[in-house]
Parts: sequence; C-alpha cells; structure tokens
Amino acid sequence: MTIRKILVEPDPFLRQKSKKVEKVDDDVRSLMNDMLETMYDAPGIGLAAIQIGVAKRIIVMDLAKENEKKQPLYFINPEIITKSEIDLTYEEGCLSVPGQFAEIDRPDRCKIKYLDYDGKEQILNAQGLLATCIQHEIDHLEGVLFIDYLSKLKRSMITKKLSKQKKELERIVV
Ligand code: NI
Repeated sequence: MTIRKILVEPDPFLRQKSKKVEKVDDDVRSLMNDMLETMYDAPGIGLAAIQIGVAKRIIVMDLAKENEKKQPLYFINPEIITKSEIDLTYEEGCLSVPGQFAEIDRPDRCKIKYLDYDGKEQILNAQGLLATCIQHEIDHLEGVLFIDYLSKLKRSMITKKLSKQKKELERIVV
C-alpha cells in the first residue's frame, strides 16, 4: 500500500467527471487499498479516486471513531437511487480543501446502488453522517466540491486563500 498525494483546490483535475469502472479487478482493489491508506494518513473519513489524480468512480470511507475498530467501506460506481426531502446540516470539510469548513445542507437519507470490494452489486440505505459523506464523495465524481454550494463571494475567498497557501508551499529558498 502506498500513500498518494492528495490534489488540492484550485486544481482543474478535481473538476473532471470520473469514468465508470468497467471491471473490479486486482488493479482496482490495489488502488482502493492505496486510497484507504492515504485517507487514514491524512486523516479523513472519505476519499474519492479523483482526489489522488485517478478519474475513476471509486470512493473509500471509514466513519469509525478513533477508539473504534477500523470499518473500511468501498463504493465502486455508486449511484443515488432515491433521496429524502428532509435536509440535514453538517459542517463539512474536504481533504482537497484543507483547513476550510462550511455548513452544508443535504438530504438526510439516500439509497445508493454500488459495487463492493469484490465487484458484487449492493444496495445501501444511508442516513445521517453516512448519507452526508456518501453524497459529498459522489459529488467529487462529478467534479463538484462542497464549496460550490456556498455563495460566489465566500467560494472565491476560500479559493484565493488556498491558491496563496499553495504558492507559499511551492516557494523555496536555496
Ligand atoms: Ni471531499
């Protein structure tokens, strides 16, 4: 397993639409293992393949608390079948938008269809944090970030801040 570099906004790659996985094979599983390792290292509770520069419809998540046993979740080609009409608000952050948080409303329940680690089709009824997290990650597969739900002004403030941080990181003195 390898820890990969996480892309940070603004990065045009993060805005790409990810492609469907045609076959769940060992290459896909090895990618998912790397994604999980990268997510645990960050640390975060969810990661989409596009965030490490792979435009495939793959998500890993683990919502276990610090003192609990790890509970890795793998979603390949996830699709939302139904969503509830009641919204739930969470303060969201994202590994590709470091240090920035905002309250986002999303449906509190959703039903999704996906392929699991072994390529078997599964249906999941998600609610609460799990539902929010899955919807946040599925957005990544469409090139959407949580900051896109904010006002234009707020979003551009965040993007400017991130661009500045990025430049500072790249600066070297020899
Ligand atoms: Ni994210």
